Formats: sequence, structure tokens, C-alpha cells
Amino acid sequence: MSVAIKAVRGVHDILPADTPRWQRVEATARRVFEAHGYHEIRPPIFERTELFARGIGELTDIVQKEMYTFEDKGGESLTLRPEATASVLRAYVEHGLHVQPKPVRLYTIGPMFRYERPQAGRYRQFHQLNLEAVGEVHPGLDAEVIAVLMELFQGVGLADRLTLALNSIGDPACRPAYREKLVEYLRRRAAELCQECRERAERNPLRVLDCKKPGCQPVLDEAPSILDALCRECAEHFAHVRRYLEAMALPYRVTPRLVRGFDYYVRTTFELLTGELGAQNAVAGGGRYDGLVQLLGGPPDPGIGFAVGMERVVLLLSSDSNKAGPLALLIPLGDAALLRLFPVAQAVRKQGAVVELGYGVRRLRSELDRANRLKVPYAVIVGESELEKGEALIREMTSGAQRVVPLSRLEGELMTLAGRR
Ligand code: HAM
Repeated sequence: MSVAIKAVRGVHDILPADTPRWQRVEATARRVFEAHGYHEIRPPIFERTELFARGIGELTDIVQKEMYTFEDKGGESLTLRPEATASVLRAYVEHGLHVQPKPVRLYTIGPMFRYERPQAGRYRQFHQLNLEAVGEVHPGLDAEVIAVLMELFQGVGLADRLTLALNSIGDPACRPAYREKLVEYLRRRAAELCQECRERAERNPLRVLDCKKPGCQPVLDEAPSILDALCRECAEHFAHVRRYLEAMALPYRVTPRLVRGFDYYVRTTFELLTGELGAQNAVAGGGRYDGLVQLLGGPPDPGIGFAVGMERVVLLLSSDSNKAGPLALLIPLGDAALLRLFPVAQAVRKQGAVVELGYGVRRLRSELDRANRLKVPYAVIVGESELEKGEALIREMTSGAQRVVPLSRLEGELMTLAGRR
């Protein structure tokens, strides 16, 4: 018998038991993105190495340590994409998408590759939902993009378990002076920092602020804040973004130490954080990248975007597995009841609740059996007599308790139950 071949370290199969959660997140993303006017683009999985070196930055950890780079048989250096932004913008330039009305709104879903040390929530092949809005500098776009991100997480029912960390990291007008100030400060307190921070302080000082080691925290907590060093334009831009988020009642936490691992960012940066996944606490990250399109040989179009780490989202959903399944089985008894329940199912699904609908042909007992096997917390029963009275029965599956609600209010009742999960 031959030895079984195993998958490569750091990559994983997504098994049938998990694919429903993946599909649900993907479907919610597509629905939310498309509703905001974003269109799908599917760039290739490998690109010329130079694209990432130039786009992400030669000195970043990603380019220096984490890329899957190889020479093909023609001797060309190619790289499996570590992220999608550079590829999407390359395609934007290459295909002249910039002639379209701006902002040009694009999204893409697929695998990314980084040679990182694998651990829970960190893989060498992982998947991102990636969204980009290109060609507009107005801070209203920053707020829109963040609102889309939050709506996605509301749609999958995770929004209230996450914190939006928000920062501005300035631009080429104000960041160099801050950088100098920071380097000076870090040098002064170098003895109190870990080896990695000391090395980074010279090479990529802003990234030092990202160090998670407890020993470094007191020094980093007292480091000069980028927010005090912003030029007038950047400070105004940031103030507007905050005002717009507040107008949409989107909570955020200003986090001056939030820096990101890419050289392309300017001004607004953000991450969506969870306390439930240990060290891998970011489920999404993004920011503005004015100047990047030009750096890639295109017009001087500004832009902003984000990427969501699918594995981390699915992990959060699995930690609460009964929340991932449908909320309710709607049980019509007969075709007239089915006709009445179709639009209710449609309406609640539109709002992100997952419900199953019977076809009115099975007996009540066998439908309730099915509800048990589906592990739905609720069944909604509409038989002939309920239909006549304009009512529905909501049955709580674990206790068997039933209550009557008017059919006209069923949609609202289901959404209230969905909100409580
Ligand atoms: P990023 O912060 O590197 O940003 O990645 C976004 C998300 O991808 C992270 O928050 C995390 O959830 C997930 N992720 C990253 N690395 C791994 C890994 N090794 N294993 C599992 N999940 C991972 C970007 O990639 C930018 N391109 C985002 C962006 C788009 N900025 C502007 N537009």
C-alpha cells in the first residue's frame, strides 16, 4: 500500500460540513457589494513579481519574507498573489477602466498566498473578499467603503462582536516628519524594546507600533501619535470621515497605533477586530491608497478598499454553530398557505435571515421532524384555519411553546428573532 499524500503545511481543504458557512458569507458579500454598485472582477492568481514588489513596497514583510515567488520555464519571475489590491489596480490600468464614471467600484473573491508561520486563523493559502473604490478622493467614499464593510458583517450576524479600529496615517506631505520624530523617540528608548522592534525602528519604523509583545507596550503607548502630526488636509479629511461615520451611526474606535503592513496606504486606515481568535485578531483591514494607481503606471487616481479574511469570518461563525443554520422552517399546510408564505420568506431572506420553506405537501408531523433535524430554533406553521384568521403559529422548537402572531406582522417577528440570535 502506498503512503497517503497529505496537503501542504498551512493550506487546508474546505470540507462539505463547512462549505455552507463559506457560501453564506460569499452570498452575503455579493448581495451587499452589488447593492452598493460594486462589480466583480476576477484577476489571475499569479502576476509578475515586480507588480507586488512595486505596489506593496520592497521593504514590507510581505514582499521581503512572505511571497511565493518562482521562475517559470521561460525564466520569468512570477508570484502567487499575496493580496488582491495590486492585481485589481493593474487590471484597472491595463484595461482602461479609469475612463468609466468615478469612483469605479470593484470587488473580487478568491485565494491569496503568503508564506507565514501557520497557526489558528493564519494560513499560507487563505481567502479574501476584496473591495476597491477607485478614482475619488472625497472622504465620503471612505465612509461609504467602511459602511459597506459593516453592512456585510451585519448581514452575517457578526457586527456586534467586532470593533472598528480607525486611524489616519497621513500622506507624503506630513508622514516623513512624523516618521523622523518616531525614529528619534524609538532610538531614545531602544533599550526597552524587543530585538525585532529595534531592527524595524530603522527599516520600517511605523510598523514598530504594531508590535504585540507585552514588554514593548509601555514604550509604544507613550510614542508620539500620528494624529498630532497630520497636516491640515489630512486632519480635515479624517475629521470628515469621522463625521460621516457618526451620521450613519457606525461606531468606531480611533486607534492612533493602527498601522498596516503595506507601503501604499495614505490617510484613512482601518481594521475590524475580534477578541475571539487569539493573536489573529483582524478579520478585515483596509485603507486609502492615493498614489498607488500612478505608481503602477496609471493615471493619478486615488482609491480606497478593504479585504476580509474569509477563514477568520468562518471561524467566528463556527464558534457558534447553531447560529449558522437557518433561523426557522416555515411550514405551510397546503398550497394557499404556501402562496402566502413565499413573499414572507423572500422578504426576510432579503434582510439577511436564513429561513427554509416547505412546499405545503408534507404532514405537519413530518415537517416538525424535519425542523428538528435542521436544528432550527423556530418553526412557523400556517394551516387552513390560521390562514382563514390571518394568523401564523410560531413554535419554539426546544420548548414546544407556541404563540399566535398576525400574518401581517410575521416578517417583522422573524426579523426580531433573527436579531436576537
Ligand atoms: P490585509 O490586512 O493584509 O490587507 O488582509 C486582510 C485580511 O485578510 C486580514 O485582516 C485577515 O483577516 C486576512 N488575512 C491576512 N493574512 C492572512 C493569513 N495568512 N491567513 C488567514 N487570513 C489572513 C490586505 O490584504 C489589503 N490588500 C486590503 C486592502 C484592500 N486595502 C485596500 N484595499
